Amino acid sequence: MILTITMNPSIDIAYPLTHFQIDDVNRVADVRKTAGGKGLNVTRILNQLGSNVVASGLLGGVLGEAIKKDLTSDGIQHDFLPISGETRNCIAILHDGAQTEILESGPVILESEASTFLTHLKKLADKADVIAISGSLPKGLPTNFYCDMLAVCHGKQVVLDCAGPALEAVLNGDIKPTMIKPNITELSALLDRTITTQLSDLKAALNHPLFEGIEWVVVSLGADGALAKHADTFYRVTIPKITVVNAVGSGDATVAGMTAALEQGASDDVVLRQGNTLGMLNAQEAMTGYVEMENYKALYTQIKVENV
Ligand SMILES: Nc1ncnc2c1ncn2[C@@H]1O[C@H](COP(=O)(O)OP(=O)(O)OP(=O)(O)O)[C@@H](O)[C@H]1O
Ligand SMILES: [Mg+2]
Repeated sequence: MILTITMNPSIDIAYPLTHFQIDDVNRVADVRKTAGGKGLNVTRILNQLGSNVVASGLLGGVLGEAIKKDLTSDGIQHDFLPISGETRNCIAILHDGAQTEILESGPVILESEASTFLTHLKKLADKADVIAISGSLPKGLPTNFYCDMLAVCHGKQVVLDCAGPALEAVLNGDIKPTMIKPNITELSALLDRTITTQLSDLKAALNHPLFEGIEWVVVSLGADGALAKHADTFYRVTIPKITVVNAVGSGDATVAGMTAALEQGASDDVVLRQGNTLGMLNAQEAMTGYVEMENYKALYTQIKVENV
């Protein structure tokens, strides 16, 4: 079983408008509302892959209930810890060829809820083969909360996709995840210098002591594929040119693909191929966290994974 964790989920609302009138009424006919948050994107892709997946994290209020309902109707198992705060809305206004976003910061988690969640997580993690943790931490949780979660998941394979201080705390912590998947912007921020897609630059970055003890570091490079380090082996993943519709969440789709491959004990080649194939498939769709599996094989065979 794969356990996915979303600590700060949201209801993502998309308002498509031809033109956005500031300081006036804007009427929207075609509203799209979906259960969002990076971990839930990972969950949906895993569900499409046919993995046995359970989604967990924190949910509260009526929007929390709406997310549960949404997952249930998609046939996805879930076991979230209820919290006293209200799960958030995140609004994207698609207008004039642009995207204006209004993102609520979300609920503030109580100390008692944080410790109850660790107990809840322990129970679920014991039954899981791989755990995928994605996204930011909600307010109220300490920056090193992912370290506490990793301690609870100790002995299991954990894929962690987060950024900023939360990731830094993990990299400086004692218990390491099995895999992290920063994109190049997140990698540059971590090392506090601009990393280019040049092979020598990327390899030097991944040899930084900060990444010691992490089995897999996969740097996703958008249209340029990925550069990965597994133990002491480096891989360059080259992908074909595709027509991109919406690349938001492609990193989440990549995480889903690699997590499913890790669960099956797949080879390095398959882990990277499957991850990149799903990232590309997500980029080809307007909807985030959705892929057309019919196109899987054609892309999969066009990917090149080489030792570098
Ligand atoms: N423009 C693109 N063209 C082709 N493939 C893409 C493109 N963007 C993303 N991908 C595929 O998806 C993978 C992950 O994408 P990316 O590096 O953009 O992740 P990300 O920045 O973490 O995304 P997010 O956080 O929005 O999920 C890439 O390694 C690649 O395989
Ligand atoms: Mg990402």
